Amino acid sequence: MFMYEMPTRLYFGKDCLKGAGKDLKQLGKKALIVTGRHSAKINGSQKAVTDALESEGVAWVLFDQIENNPSIDTVRRAADFGKSQHADFVIGIGGGSPMDAAKVIALLCTNELDDAALFTGPYVRPLPIVTVPTTSGTGSEVTKVGVLTNHHAGTKQSVNTPLIFPVLSYADPSFTESVSTTVTMDTAVDALSHAIEGYMSRKSTPMSDVWAEEAMRFLGPHLTDLEGNIPYVVREDLMYGATTAGMVIAQTGTTLVHGMGYQLTYYKGLSHGRANGLLLPGYMRLMTETMEDKVEKIWDILGFSGLQDFADCLHSLMPERVFLTEEEIEEYVRLTLPTGAVASTPYEVNGEVIARLYRELA
Ligand SMILES: [Fe+2]
Repeated sequence: MFMYEMPTRLYFGKDCLKGAGKDLKQLGKKALIVTGRHSAKINGSQKAVTDALESEGVAWVLFDQIENNPSIDTVRRAADFGKSQHADFVIGIGGGSPMDAAKVIALLCTNELDDAALFTGPYVRPLPIVTVPTTSGTGSEVTKVGVLTNHHAGTKQSVNTPLIFPVLSYADPSFTESVSTTVTMDTAVDALSHAIEGYMSRKSTPMSDVWAEEAMRFLGPHLTDLEGNIPYVVREDLMYGATTAGMVIAQTGTTLVHGMGYQLTYYKGLSHGRANGLLLPGYMRLMTETMEDKVEKIWDILGFSGLQDFADCLHSLMPERVFLTEEEIEEYVRLTLPTGAVASTPYEVNGEVIARLYRELA
């Protein structure tokens, strides 16, 4: 038995927001647009959204103060603003941070939740959520997860409920054309990690595997051409790969790589994709012990001869090392071990396994 859930209406392709006004108008009279400070203004996405809204006479207000790895305080401020403005729905434009924030903001507009209940529920229906990705990585445009920084818990933590699946998503690869080489690399590796982890996960299903293989087919060939001027057709493949990988983790969630990576982002300031990329080779070595058939399929689809070839490729993209003290490792193990990401990993994961993977980053 398995369940497949993908309730988001997804539009994909260049200029897909043209004519979006009619769908958006169905969601209400006033939108709360949620973005970071700059990129949505620079890459044309914010203008494309407001043009679509205005074409149908839908009013909008803007909250453009979402930081990377948004905090609980920030989403609470945005939700208070949205409520004071009587917003009917929320549109998140940007990378994972603004889209994840938009989902939680929509939830906080209709739910009174303290900082503990925010991550556990129960919840009532949020305001309708619309997402417009401007990076090719997170897949948040088609998932039911909003990741926040929880300073009380000292890590990143997820709000996870089918209620926060976006109702509408507009994935236009041209919005990623101004994304830097580093961010393009980091986000592509994040998307790859979603496809691989979802494919490995104890929660994988025949249908999530179809999307995982599709995502790897589109991401794999570009891992070696992510430098310099990236043409639109490659941007399109990367966004398609990231979105389909998002559809994978919407079914499976992530596994050990993400579970461990959150500590590297929170405590060491590594970007999310880079943290995952550094951990992936060690993770794949574990997977060759328990999931050999699927690992072979991955090398085949991605075009690598084996683990060493894959590790060499990631090391050339992300050459940095991370030096952790034994105290740091002990703390990160404590934070990682109880997570669902560990439970979904098809390996006997214990503290020593996690500690060894962290030590190998040096
Ligand atoms: Fe991720």
